[in-house]
This record gives sequence, C-alpha cells and structure tokens, in this order.
Amino acid sequence: MSTPSLLILAGDGIGPEVMAEVTRVIDWYGAKRDLKFNVSHGLVGGASYDAHGTPLTDETMERAQAADAVLLGAVGGPKYDVLDFSVKPERGLLRLRKEMDLYANLRPAQCFDALADFSSLKTEVVSGLDIMIVRELTSGVYFGEPRGITPDNEGGRIGVNTQRYTTNEIRRVARSAFELARRRSNKVCSMEKANVMESGILWREEVQWVHDNEYPDVELSHMYADNGAMQLVRWPKQFDVIVTDNLFGDILSDCAAMLTGSLGMLPSASLGAPMASGLPKALYEPVHGSAPDITGQGKANPIACILSFAMALRYSFDQGAEADRLEKAVEAVLADGVRTADLMQKGDGTPVSTTEMGDAILAALDASL
Ligand code: IPM
Ligand code: MG
Repeated sequence: MSTPSLLILAGDGIGPEVMAEVTRVIDWYGAKRDLKFNVSHGLVGGASYDAHGTPLTDETMERAQAADAVLLGAVGGPKYDVLDFSVKPERGLLRLRKEMDLYANLRPAQCFDALADFSSLKTEVVSGLDIMIVRELTSGVYFGEPRGITPDNEGGRIGVNTQRYTTNEIRRVARSAFELARRRSNKVCSMEKANVMESGILWREEVQWVHDNEYPDVELSHMYADNGAMQLVRWPKQFDVIVTDNLFGDILSDCAAMLTGSLGMLPSASLGAPMASGLPKALYEPVHGSAPDITGQGKANPIACILSFAMALRYSFDQGAEADRLEKAVEAVLADGVRTADLMQKGDGTPVSTTEMGDAILAALDASL
C-alpha cells in the first residue's frame, strides 16, 4: 500500500491545541514504527468562515473525499453564535458527515481504571465499563425535509424538522452495530421511541430484520430511548453495543461519555461505505467540543483526540496492534497519575499542560518499544 493520506482539520477553540499533540504522535509512528502518513491540513468551522466566509469550502470537501482518513479537532465558539444558521461552524461538520456519507458513528465509552473515582457515579457502577454507542449520523431529524421556520396565520411562527428514516438507512447502521458486537461481547441493544414515533416502529422492525436474517448469533434487545438514558446511569455495564438514531445518539452518547469521568477522554469514528481500497470512508474526532472557556491556555486534554487517531489506526489503516500500543500508552500515563486539569478535583495537586500530556504519552510510547 502506498503512503496513506491523512487530512487534518483542526478547526476551532482547543481543536488546534489538541491536534498539535496528535501531530507529534503521528510523527512518532513515522520515526519509530516506520508507519508514515501523507499529512495535509485544511480549515473547517469558524476558522474556515473567517478565512473564506464558509464553514467548509468545496475544495476542502473534495480533499476530504479523496483522503484515506480525516482527523477533525472541534468546531464552533461564541464568536460565531450570531452567524446565520447556514454558515455556522457546525454546518461544516454536518456537510462532511453527509457528503462523505459517514452513516455509522462509533462512540466508545470506556472507563479507565485510574479515573474510576472521577465519575459522578459510584466507582462500582463504572469501573471496567466498556460500551460502544453506534449512532446513525447522516439522516433522521438532523437532515429530514421539510424543515424550516415559517409564519403561521396567527402572527406567530412554526418551526419544523422532520424525523425520517428509510429501510436501507436503518439496515446499514444496524449491520455496523452487529459486526462490532461480534468482535466484542456479542450483544446489541437498539434504542428508539417506537411507543410514540412511526419512524421508531420502522427502526425496531428493520433492526430486528437484519438480526433475524443476517446476525441471528448476536443477542439483540430493544429499549425505548428514555429508558435507555435511565439505564445508562443506573447500570451501564448491562450494555455492550447500543445502536440508535442520529438525535438519540447525540444525547445518549454525551450521557455515556460523562459516565467515564471526562469528556476529554473520548474519541469517535464516523465510518461510511468502503472505498476502492476496501477501507471505509472515515472521519475521526474527539467527542468533546471546542471548549472556548479554556482555549489558548494550554489546559486542554489531548487524549480524546489522540485516541481518535488510535481509532484511525484500527479502522482505517488496519493497524490494530499499533492502536493497542497507543491506547496502552495513554493508560500507562494515567496510571502514573499524569493529569490535565479536567481530570483533577480541587486540591489534587498541579495539572500538566496539553503539551506535557503529549510529552508523557510520547515517553510511554518510547517505553513500549
Ligand atoms: C456531536 C455534536 C454535533 C452534533 C454538533 C456540533 C453539530 O454535538 O458531534 O455530538 O449535534 O452532532
Ligand atoms: Mg453532541
């Protein structure tokens, strides 16, 4: 295989700071593991709006389509709140997801032993937690038509969004979930609101169809999404893989993320159909946002972004062992007590900076050789 290409879109807020540490990790793989990447950079979100008046240019969109994988930092910030909806930073991200057709968003929620105390839940509820949320990412109420705000005939207005799913959209994301489950604990729980929504009834039936016809060996259960939210905070270890739609997945994955103690720890992969290479179209990004409150202060935790690169190694570059190495390096650093500010409570000592966390992870990578 020729040198794989990696497009880095660092974006806004802490995006560029955390991505700087990822770049050092990428360079480490080139130097120490002879795993070279053809890295290029582009703008997305507010950064792109500032330079070009749009949160994603057509040129960057084309480069993303051509790349073997895209690594994204974060988009958005208060400065852009006043912008028209059509040019808001988030639209850049949504366009990437939609046009690359990245329908399966993998959001692992894993509790690192060293951080179990840090969760807002009791240690026994979260220690050893390792679940995977598969969120449908290119359809549902995020993209459904009709949508918009129109006047009504009483002098007021009507806001409309449409929840819409097709058989194919549901079946393909269900397959992603069942495939993942086979490589984990072989259990899928599908979440929707079939008690109030027709699209939820279709969701349940189609997931069941894929199970019965293609994955009868995987254990499948169904749950209403509100109950799912409750079960996630009551006893999250009952789950292995959760598959759900775009909006429920957005909410449930934030909830699952917080179980683990810090949003600053969690990576994600957004995968589409296989390209000519046989590997899926893919975009990797941390689950955390742009964190404008700490931007530019060297406080941001780069781990979620670094672990997103580990997911790229695993899902885009077929380097599972090297992904394991990077994940173990992060675990070792945490076990050593190295902490950025988000991983500390008051009186816990001095946090390390973003760069110092990067230093520690590189040292742990060196030690793994
Ligand atoms: C996420 C974010 C995005 C979403 C925003 C930034 C558009 O919350 O990736 O979870 O709602 O999908
Ligand atoms: Mg979200």
